[in-house]
Order: sequence, then structure tokens, then C-alpha cells
Amino acid sequence: MKRVLITGAAGYIGSHTIVELVNAGYDVVGVDNFSNSSAKVLDGIEKIVGKRIDFVEVDCTDKEAFEKVFQKYPDIEAAIHFAAYKAVGESIDNPTMYYRNNISTLLNLVDLMVAKGKSANVVFSSSAIVYGQSNNLQMPIKESVPMGAAISPYGATKQMAEEILGHCVNAHNNLNVTILRYFNPIGAHPSAFIGELPKGVPSNLVPVMTETAAGKRECLSVFGNDYNTPDGSCIRDYIYVVDLAKAHVKAVERMFKDGVRWDVFNIGTGKGLSVLELINAFEKATGVKLNYKIAPRRPGDIVESCADANKANQILGWSADTPIEDVLLSAWKWQCSLDK
Ligand code: NAD
Ligand code: WQD
Repeated sequence: MKRVLITGAAGYIGSHTIVELVNAGYDVVGVDNFSNSSAKVLDGIEKIVGKRIDFVEVDCTDKEAFEKVFQKYPDIEAAIHFAAYKAVGESIDNPTMYYRNNISTLLNLVDLMVAKGKSANVVFSSSAIVYGQSNNLQMPIKESVPMGAAISPYGATKQMAEEILGHCVNAHNNLNVTILRYFNPIGAHPSAFIGELPKGVPSNLVPVMTETAAGKRECLSVFGNDYNTPDGSCIRDYIYVVDLAKAHVKAVERMFKDGVRWDVFNIGTGKGLSVLELINAFEKATGVKLNYKIAPRRPGDIVESCADANKANQILGWSADTPIEDVLLSAWKWQCSLDK
């Protein structure tokens, strides 16, 4: 079976993608330096797939160490690059840490994949953040929308990465790249053996919701209800992490089958939900009342971000089908498993 390298394998999306790749019959090898995850995640993956996946603890900024992975696994035919730092606020405080890590891991991966000589297939984790923070974007957002001004180093690393990959595909005829721009990944594997393990205090809405429901937080602050939306709260496209993981399998399969050299896909549901709608859906799905209050707007938030996912639906034959109540229930089950 073809082997796929997963960088950032112990991370939130990487771990869920490994499960779906194994389910689809691929061999995988994961790498991670556990800078934002734990080796326990590998135990969770093993419980789900019934075997220990091949894994090497390595910092992908260390090219020599990273190269040893390719020597040990010469049958790597594709790579999915998740390894990066991803906290917008942290990136504003530590720009060089973000540029160094997120760009050098990518450059090392590209060099090592191209050096294999055979066709090198790379799927890159990008983000809706590349569209910028303008409130004038037409919704839903199509892939053809040009990148917007990045207001954070994190967002800039994603934009730069896409530019770098474009130049590298032009320079190397054995390199194929598929870019997946994720909107708002949420939820956890239904087994509750893996999920989102934010180190430190999470800032994303769903982990804050589940921690509030679990009594680990006093109250959830809804950052603004005076936006120009039906209920005044911001709208986002919340994509179930397992559906997102399956999009990566589809992207790898298409590269192996069609040898497609370059493509970009928005990975979202195509349907937006407001913060208040998500809170209502959580309470309905779990039966747990959420203690929340309306708080001032959070600087940098845009009023709406929603994917036009038609291209992924039609070309990848992929769609996000999981009902939001099931997604939120998976997040709640995961939170409860953490508190055991
Ligand atoms: P995560 O932090 O859970 O996973 C990233 C993993 O990469 C972590 O396990 C971390 O230890 C590892 N890592 C970081 N730097 C490394 C290095 N130098 N060498 C080896 N391993 C390294 O994040 P995630 O939510 O799973 O995101 C995965 C990718 O998807 C990231 O590139 C992120 O920018 C992107 N993304 C995430 C979201 C989101 O909301 N979660 C949205 C859009 C895009
Ligand atoms: C969602 C909505 C908040 C917390 C971020 C990154 C983005 C990507 C996904 C990496 C917003 C509101 C939140 C809270 C709230 N990550 N909210 N109270 O900001 O859309 O996207 O994660 O690529 O780059 O920017 O996600 O979950 O932080 O916020 O009201 O305690 O929930 O205002 O409207 P966001 P989020």
C-alpha cells in the first residue's frame, strides 16, 4: 500500500487524518516534536485503528534529523504537512518564532520530498485566514478570491507558504501540491480517544464552550452581538474534524490517481452558523445549559467567514455531512473524557 508521511501527526487535525488514512488502507508514518501535543495522542490513534502507527519524534526544522525519516521510510509517496504553530495571538507576540517554524518546516519538507526523485505529492494545511480579515468579502468565499492583507504573522505564514509552494511546483516537475484551506475545524473523533488538546488556555469557541459546560470556566463570553448578522453575533463555517480528515484522503487519492500538479480547495460546510446559534445547538445536542454573557467585540474578528465548498464537493467528491448536533456532541464527549 502507498505510504503517506504526516507531519504534525500528534496534532488535532493530523491525528484525525491518520485515522482516516489507515481506514482507507494507506500506510502512514507520522512525525511530530510534541511542541503543541502529547505522545498520548498516539495511544488514542492505536485504540481506534487497532495498531501502532509508524512514528518518529522529530523537529521538522532540523533538516538532518528530518532527512533520517526519509532514509528509514524510502516508500513515502505523499506527505500531508500539518506541522506548524497556529495561534494568531501568539504569532503577533512572537513573529520570528512563527516565521522560523512555519516556513522552515515547509522548506525542509519540500526539499526532502523533491529529493526523492519519484513523484512527490504534498497536501498543505492552509486556512481561510489567507483571505484576510476584510468585512467586505462576498460570502460564501470562492477559491478564486485573492488573498487579503494578513493582520497576523500566522496568517502571513500561510499566505507565504502557498506562494512558496507555487514557485516550487514550477521549479520541480516531480512536485505536485494540493492546498486545502480549512475554515473552522471543530469536534472530536466519535470514540473520544482523540480530540483537540489545546496546550494552555484555549481561545477557540468550541473548546471554550465545552470547558464552560464542564464547569472548568465560570462563563462563556460571546464577543459581540452588535454585528450586522441576524442575531448580531459573528458567523463562521464550522467543519467537523473527521469530515475535514476525510477531505485529505480524497486529496491524496486524487493526486495518486490523476497526478494533478496544483490545486486549491476551500474545506468547509458551505453553511455559516452564528455564535449564538452554535450555543443553542450545543445545548440542544448535549442537554447541558451553557452559562454565557454578551461581552465586547474581540479585536480582529470579522463578521462572517463561510466557504463556498462546491469545488471540493464536485472535484474531490467530498462533502461535510455530519449534522452540527453530532459534531458538538463529539466535542462534549471528548471534554468529558478529559475530565475523567
Ligand atoms: P496542532 O497544533 O494541534 O497540530 C500541529 C502539530 O504540529 C502539533 O502536534 C505540533 O506539536 C506539531 N509541530 C509544530 N511544529 C513542529 C515542528 N517544527 N516539527 C514537528 N512537529 C511540529 O494544530 P492543528 O489544529 O492540528 O492544525 C494543523 C494544521 O492545520 C496547522 O498547519 C494549522 O495552521 C492548520 N489549520 C488549523 C486550523 C484550526 O483551526 N485548527 C484552521 C486552519 C488551518
Ligand atoms: C469563532 C467565533 C469569536 C471564543 C480561528 C483562527 C483561524 C483558524 C480557526 C487557524 C468568533 C467567537 C470565540 C469565545 C466567542 N485557526 N468567540 N467567544 O477566530 O474564527 O478562527 O480559528 O488557522 O485562523 O483565527 O475562531 O473559535 O476563535 O472564534 O464569542 O470565547 O467565536 O468572536 O466570532 P476564529 P474562534
